[in-house]
Amino acid sequence: MQENKVALVTGGSRGIGRACALKLAEAGVNVVINYAGNDEAAEKTVKDIEAFGVKAAKKKFNVADKEAVDTAIKEIVEEFGKIDILVNNAGITRDGLFMRMSDTQWLDVINTNLNSAYFVTNPVSKLMIKQRSGAIINMASISGIYGNAGQANYSTAKAGLIGFTKALAKELASRNIRVNAVAPGFIQTDMTKDLPMDAIVERIPLKKLGNPEDVAAAVKFLALDTDYITGQVLSVDGGLVI
Ligand code: NAI
Repeated sequence: MQENKVALVTGGSRGIGRACALKLAEAGVNVVINYAGNDEAAEKTVKDIEAFGVKAAKKKFNVADKEAVDTAIKEIVEEFGKIDILVNNAGITRDGLFMRMSDTQWLDVINTNLNSAYFVTNPVSKLMIKQRSGAIINMASISGIYGNAGQANYSTAKAGLIGFTKALAKELASRNIRVNAVAPGFIQTDMTKDLPMDAIVERIPLKKLGNPEDVAAAVKFLALDTDYITGQVLSVDGGLVI
C-alpha cells in the first residue's frame, strides 16, 4: 500500500480521469480530483474514492486559467501538505477539418489540452523539486503520434504534450521526478460516444475498444509500480499504432 501519498488528477470526475483516480485510491493513495462542470459526477467520484479508505477532495477549476490553477494548487497543499503524483488528464475535442477550423476551436483545444499542462505542472513541479520526488503522467493520445485528419488542433496539443514529457523527464530526473505520457487509442467515454465505433474497431488489431480502466492500469503502473521509467510514451490502443 502507498500510504500517505497524494495525487492530483485533472479532469478526474468522469471517464479516464475518474478511472485513474479510483485505481490510485485502490492502491492507497489520497486523491484530489479536478473537474470543469459536473458537480454531481465529481461528488460521486469523491465518494467512490473514499470507499477505498483514503482521503479525497474535489476542486472545480478551469485548467486553462493560470490564476485559478495557482489558487487551487495552494489550497490542495494547505489541505494535503504535498502532491506526489500529478496526472494531467483534462482534455476536450473540437474536431473539424483545418480549412474550416475557427480560431476558437484551435485555441480552446490548445489551451485546455496543452497550455493547461504547463499551468498545472509549473507549480506542482516546484513542490516536487522541494520534496525531491514525484511522478507526472501526461495524458497524450495516439493522435499526437500519428496525426488524425479533422484533429489538427488536438493532434498538435497531444504531440506537444509528448515533447513536454520528454524535455521535463530530462530536466527533472536529477531531482528524482519521473515524467511519462500515456497515449490512449479509442476508449469508451463521453468523448468518443458519437464516433462510428464499428468502423473503428475494424482497424484495431485486438478488435475491441478500450475501457477507462485499461488506461488507468498504465497510469498506476507508471506512477507507482516502477521507479526506473521516465520520458516514455506508453500506448494503450489495442495495437492500433504499431
Ligand atoms: P471526458 O470528456 O469523459 O472527460 C474529460 C474530463 O476533463 C472531465 O472530467 C472534464 O470535467 C474535464 N475537463 C474538460 N475541460 C476542462 C477544463 N477546462 N478544466 C478542468 N477540467 C476539464 O474525456 P475522456 O475520454 O475521459 O478523456 C480524458 C483524457 O484522455 C483527455 O485528455 C483526452 O484527450 C484523452 N484521450 C481520450 C481518448 C478516448 O478515446 N476517450 C483517446 C486518447 C486520449
